[in-house]
Amino acid sequence: MSRPEFLNFKVDHMTLLLQPQLYNVAYVLFRTVFGCAPEHVVYEKRKEWIAGEGDQSLTYAMQVGQGYDLAADLTTTMIAVVQPSEPASMRSHVREMLDGHRAAAHWQHIALRTTDLLAFHAHASARGVNFITPVLRDESDDVIQVFSGEWFFPGSPASGMFFEFLQRNPSEELLQKMAERNRESWFNDKTFLGLYGEKEREYQSGSVTPFVDDALFQQLTDVVGAKKMWEITEEDVRRCEEAMLAYGASKQQQA
Ligand SMILES: [Fe+2]
Repeated sequence: MSRPEFLNFKVDHMTLLLQPQLYNVAYVLFRTVFGCAPEHVVYEKRKEWIAGEGDQSLTYAMQVGQGYDLAADLTTTMIAVVQPSEPASMRSHVREMLDGHRAAAHWQHIALRTTDLLAFHAHASARGVNFITPVLRDESDDVIQVFSGEWFFPGSPASGMFFEFLQRNPSEELLQKMAERNRESWFNDKTFLGLYGEKEREYQSGSVTPFVDDALFQQLTDVVGAKKMWEITEEDVRRCEEAMLAYGASKQQQA
């Protein structure tokens, strides 16, 4: 069974949340153990949370590997690191994700690269998948990307784990098409803060968007929940996908 090219994902980067005590030490470990040089710092972003207190480092990304072919910039492996940089008196979803796991470190999202983000977005939306942002464009990085809801189940606390899907080097025609379709969906060069702000809103409101709605999760559980993993049949998968398509269609009608 062959799958469409837009579902042939490559790992683009992974994002790691670290408690502040680990943040700078991790940088040193990337430099010494992982062999990263200063030019392997893909970006580093700062913010002054309280006027006069000076900038804090929010996030940085290290390129830990690179492809050897002509499209080397399309085949890099990166680790992005985020710390809760907010002052202790201010809420931070990053701190909550870490403290909630009693964790010094937590893999937050994995970013999978596709050749056609809009095709994937339509495919996943049709199956009831929730995204917490529209398709965003990061001009500085020449990338379009979208972020999914988190993987957890009805009644469980949010997990802090989600997916990013992205497409690098979008063509001029694609950008033009996107701009015409929906001007509102474009944030320029604000993607990190766009995602960061959206996650902060979710955690402060106590309502974190799941990957699929609880009702749909329940429908899937009804089909496969009582089985051993190896007992799941192709017919079960077909029934699940049918339920997802029906759920996705009714949701898109409501929207
Ligand atoms: Fe990311």
